[in-house]
Amino acid sequence: MKQPVRLALLGCGTVGAEVVRLLHEQSADLAARIGAPLEIAGIAVRRIGRDRGELPIDPALFTTDALGLIKRDDVDVVVEVVGGIEPARSWLVEALRAGKSVVTANKALLAEDGGALHDAAAEGDGDLYYEASVAGAIPLLRPLRESLHGDRITRVTGIVNGTTNFILSAMHATGAGFAEALEEATELGYAEADPTADVEGFDAAAKAAILASLAFHTRVGAADVHREGITEVTAADVASAKAMGCTIKLLCIAARGTDGQGREAVSVRVHPAMIPLTHPLASVGDAFNAVFVEADAAGQLMFYGRGAGGAPTASAVLGDVVAVARNRLAGVRSASESAYAALPVRPMGEALTRYHISLDVADRPGVLEAVAGVFARHDVSIATVRQGPADGGKGDAVLVIVTHVAPDAALAATVGELRGLDIVRSVASVLRVEGGL
Ligand code: NDP
Ligand code: HSE
Repeated sequence: MKQPVRLALLGCGTVGAEVVRLLHEQSADLAARIGAPLEIAGIAVRRIGRDRGELPIDPALFTTDALGLIKRDDVDVVVEVVGGIEPARSWLVEALRAGKSVVTANKALLAEDGGALHDAAAEGDGDLYYEASVAGAIPLLRPLRESLHGDRITRVTGIVNGTTNFILSAMHATGAGFAEALEEATELGYAEADPTADVEGFDAAAKAAILASLAFHTRVGAADVHREGITEVTAADVASAKAMGCTIKLLCIAARGTDGQGREAVSVRVHPAMIPLTHPLASVGDAFNAVFVEADAAGQLMFYGRGAGGAPTASAVLGDVVAVARNRLAGVRSASESAYAALPVRPMGEALTRYHISLDVADRPGVLEAVAGVFARHDVSIATVRQGPADGGKGDAVLVIVTHVAPDAALAATVGELRGLDIVRSVASVLRVEGGL
């Protein structure tokens, strides 16, 4: 057995504590798999005195001096499970430049400034691994950055936020409104006290940026991702989706296409969308995550599992620790960042999508023609129209229109003009539709 591989653990919260527990419980197996034992050199936290329950670790290993720990000569691998942009970025850049390997779960940092980490990794001779940053336990980034490197990925469609998937699944199952479903998610511990990052789509957008970067060999950051959350999704929207044989999911979608100048480009977006109940992502319930990958030669692939939680996330962290520890012992490093394609990111207005629009209209001759005329003027083709009686107003009707694929800007302009028509009493709901219908 070789000398131990020494770890600096930054953070010992939900994920970090599980990393400590698994390192302890699996130590013999991990050592056998790596060919050397793993040893924790120190654990950086914010509050030394915090009650951490029955953690199987020497309390003397805790420190508040993260940078001092990282700089120690006897540290080979830095495992960062603190989160946030700073000081995590400075710590990891320091570690990577010094030739240490880094394992991180920090999606916010990777999406905000992943380039700084990759550049620092290129300067040093360590590895940068971050499997836990997207979809928790699901082995997804390694397949994208290794197994699928012989193929051409065309599209990645995912449910990558467990909190919002729990909320939308509850709304679909019970007919509850958003506020009621969020309350249930909070009571059950799925939603955090401040759920903004989840329900407004920031968390999913960070993950979308990471997925798009890997899938399309292009640096994509959080600022490149069009983001809409689920706070505006109503019980009526969900009922409308159900009536169409659909459900509503918060999707992250990263797709290849061509931009306005005919150049190959990517679009990356996060928003709620209707998908048919027959789509593989429709059956992903509760707080589970799933990612559907389409590639030229491989065809369709589906990755499914737990996207959050201490133990599932620690599983992904430890998988990375084993990989980087093996590389260090072998004196090699994994392939560096692949961003050679440097594709432009298209604005949302150019993204090709479909809309489901529900209108309350006056029920009299010429109304359908006037409504259809608005779609025609914006070059948006209608796929289906359904008319039914309106709930309230006498002489009113409900028109449910589903379009063919069109640029998002044309669809948005269509809805804008419809809102201004006298004969349109209200635009009751507008939802994007994905995955065929
Ligand atoms: P927690 O808030 O539970 O833990 C954060 C840890 O970081 C705590 O131990 C805290 O110390 C420590 N810490 C905070 N600030 C500092 C600082 N300035 N210096 C030293 N230590 C500090 O976070 P999680 O474990 O939930 O998340 C960690 C990372 O994993 C994040 O990047 C998150 O996005 C990611 N992640 C989390 C998942 C989850 O299910 N929780 C799933 C996937 C990814 P102290 O204990 O003293 O407060
Ligand atoms: N808050 C995230 C979610 C977990 O709800 O999926 C970590 O990514």
